[in-house]
Amino acid sequence: MVELDTNTPVPRHVAIIMDGNGRWAEERHRPRLFGHKAGVDSVREIVETAREIGVEVLTLYAFSTENWNRPSGEVSGLMGLLKSYLQSELRTMVRNDIRLLCLGQQDRLPADVRAILQQTIDDTRECRSMTLNLALSYGGRSELVLAFQEIAKECQEGVLDWRTLSETTISDHLFTAGQPDPDLLIRTGGEHRLSNFLLWQASYAELYFTETRWPDFKKAQFLEAINIFNHRQRRFGKVGAQLIREGRGATDGE
Ligand code: FPP
Repeated sequence: MVELDTNTPVPRHVAIIMDGNGRWAEERHRPRLFGHKAGVDSVREIVETAREIGVEVLTLYAFSTENWNRPSGEVSGLMGLLKSYLQSELRTMVRNDIRLLCLGQQDRLPADVRAILQQTIDDTRECRSMTLNLALSYGGRSELVLAFQEIAKECQEGVLDWRTLSETTISDHLFTAGQPDPDLLIRTGGEHRLSNFLLWQASYAELYFTETRWPDFKKAQFLEAINIFNHRQRRFGKVGAQLIREGRGATDGE
């Protein structure tokens, strides 16, 4: 059994690209939606584990702007799974003090999904032990376009001064405003891409790629990813000796 290495802090923000549902199903000669359904069980287990070990923010890439181009049956199946997940998890989220937020263009979602999403966001507003960001109809580039449009508007209105724009101004206009950037970005399913996910926020994230398909990514695989993360040395452009002097010198990194 994989145990969490308790000598090292857990990452504050973990972001996950949940990939491989379709192939997991195809390998079992089942329709793709069967893989997505199995993926929901992994979502439950990873949310529960993240909360248990003290992750502050968990971001799950559940539906990208590009996913709208999938066959309509798969899109409506995914929307149905999302709706039933939110309906069934609302009480558990409140009990476990988990706040739900949505990253993405909610207005593109079907009305019934939008309604339960908004209800869950409202009902968990005061929860503070963990934030669960569901990236839905999300694209990193369009998030940046929306942020720049809003910044330009605020400059025009005199709310912002272009001379004082900074990295913080941009971070503050993203869906993740006020949250720490991801420390660890996991992608399951064997691909080695960011696929338009958290392009600004993941600048310094440690990347962890695994062949494991999302439906097989459970507590043990998650803890293993976190243990591997904890044994890497994040230098933020500095040299190892500087980090050791600052008390941040990690372990056996590069
Ligand atoms: C990628 O696998 C996965 C998705 C596009 C959707 C992820 C959705 C879920 C895990 C279930 C619903 C989510 C929640 C939060 C309840 P893929 O279909 O691209 O897999 P493939 O690369 O093997 O084809």
